[in-house]
Amino acid sequence: MLVYVPSHPLVKHWLAVARNKLSPPPVFRGAIAELGRLLIYEASAEEGWLPVLEGQAETPCGVADVAFVDPGRPVKVVPILRAGLVLLEQAATVLPNSQTFHVGYVRNEETLEASAYLNKLPERLTAEDRVLVVDPMLATGGTLVKVLEDIIGRGAVSSMIRVVTVVCAPTALQKLSTDFPGLKVYAAMIDAELNERGYIVPGLGDAGDRAFN
Ligand code: PRP
Repeated sequence: MLVYVPSHPLVKHWLAVARNKLSPPPVFRGAIAELGRLLIYEASAEEGWLPVLEGQAETPCGVADVAFVDPGRPVKVVPILRAGLVLLEQAATVLPNSQTFHVGYVRNEETLEASAYLNKLPERLTAEDRVLVVDPMLATGGTLVKVLEDIIGRGAVSSMIRVVTVVCAPTALQKLSTDFPGLKVYAAMIDAELNERGYIVPGLGDAGDRAFN
């Protein structure tokens, strides 16, 4: 498994805004959406992952060889509600063709066990499908593991799945690297640890509450 943390100053900037506990919900949401845009750009950069068609275009001055994103093979984007919705806000400005399949999970505050309350995944996926899962926080990794197991159970393969997150904890990354070889995770930062309540430290706090409450 590969974890990619871009060192771009804009990623650092928007992470700083998102981390600041004084950032009110609109500012927090804006920062997470910007991080989503930058990280989705990175996650789709690897040659061959985003399907393209080659052709020619007439410019005002001649004919150019061109490549454009294949409209017939949209990226399947899976936001994990609630907080994943914010990370996805700007995705349409990065991905010319995508389909969105929402899943909703909530973590039990005591047991830290995640349970699903919404699942709009397609019945079948294929080994060719490019799947992008977005959730700003990977803490114990329990939520993402359940979502990935479901996606792979429907026919997708882990080497075609990209995860975009903001902060992740080593606990989650260890779990993912054991269970999903070939998976690629794009994060703004890997944080040090989890506290006794299962929150990432220093983290962002509760991203869903900060975005919507
Ligand atoms: C948070 C976060 C992840 C999950 C991470 O969601 O957005 O989905 O917890 O925890 P884990 O890696 O230990 O499973 P939460 O359950 O708080 O729901 P919310 O987005 O609706 O606030």
